[in-house]
Amino acid sequence: MAKIDFKALKNKAQKDINLAKDLKELDEIFRKYLGEKGELRQILHSLKDLPQLKRKETGKLANQIKKEIEETLKKKKSNIQNLISNIQKQEWVDITIPGKKPVLGHLHPLTQVKREVEEIFQSMGFSVVEGPEIENEWYNFDALNIPKDHPARDMWDTLWLKDKGAKLLLRTHTSPVQIHYMEKNQPPLRIIVPGSVFRHEATDTRHEFQLYQVEGLMVDKEISVANLKAILAEFFKRFFGKNTAFRLDPDFFPFTEPSFNVSVTCVICEGKGCNLCKKTGWLEMAGAGMVHPNVFKNSGLNLNPPAGEWRGWAFGFGLERLAMMKYKIDDVRLFRSGDLRFLNQF
Ligand code: PHE
Repeated sequence: MAKIDFKALKNKAQKDINLAKDLKELDEIFRKYLGEKGELRQILHSLKDLPQLKRKETGKLANQIKKEIEETLKKKKSNIQNLISNIQKQEWVDITIPGKKPVLGHLHPLTQVKREVEEIFQSMGFSVVEGPEIENEWYNFDALNIPKDHPARDMWDTLWLKDKGAKLLLRTHTSPVQIHYMEKNQPPLRIIVPGSVFRHEATDTRHEFQLYQVEGLMVDKEISVANLKAILAEFFKRFFGKNTAFRLDPDFFPFTEPSFNVSVTCVICEGKGCNLCKKTGWLEMAGAGMVHPNVFKNSGLNLNPPAGEWRGWAFGFGLERLAMMKYKIDDVRLFRSGDLRFLNQF
């Protein structure tokens, strides 16, 4: 039997043990050296073929190496076990602690009100239509019977865009969508147009430079201001949840004739007069009126036959105003303030 290099065997085993990363690898190392078919076992088995003196000496050595390897294995095993229990301690989760509730967002009050308005008008046969927020002069003014240099343009403080000759602007109202829609559709028509509009004006409790409007347009045979009033009455009743006093006062818009403004009783002071309603007890919600013939003409609307029967009315609601009267909010600037104390009430 060749001489056995116990030292090399021991070094090899120790190196293996050092490199072991987990208990499974340690198990394999145990089997490789000390197991039933392991290298050291083989040596111990072969001792019986040796002369007695040699057998004793080699046996002693082999047993010593066996012990040393066992020792190293044991140490490494307890190292790994400590490591595991440390990790387990750190990662320990108390499953009895009540969970943290995630903070849930919700729809902005103006979005809620917009959806409600859409639903009410949809149930009365109106379609919801949208239009561009950047318009040119034609759609925002000329087509709506507001010619260049007409003083009526001053009613809308306009944010013009820097451009090369196209005269683009941020729409000052949703009325241009009347033109877009009538260019492509024939009467009878029933639409509402919710959307953002922009005005170059100072802000106060009633005014913002960006606001939402909801345009309404109905074109049908022989309709009149009476139809407009009936639709408004139904809308207010459903929106405010009760019969609500509203009134039409004469007003002027170039694209309607006759023109009105629509007011409801101020809910902040219950009609008694406060700062918001300028002591009148009424707050203006919309402009409205019968569609001016020039608006039909500029949309290229074909009103034949028989042209005379078709009539139209339009309105433009301020959505913020509606929300203010529904929820008793006395400052329009709160909506876009981003203040959670305000928003979380909805
Ligand atoms: N566009 C008008 C405004 O912004 C409101 C309006 C709409 C008036 C439709 C009459 C008809 O003030």
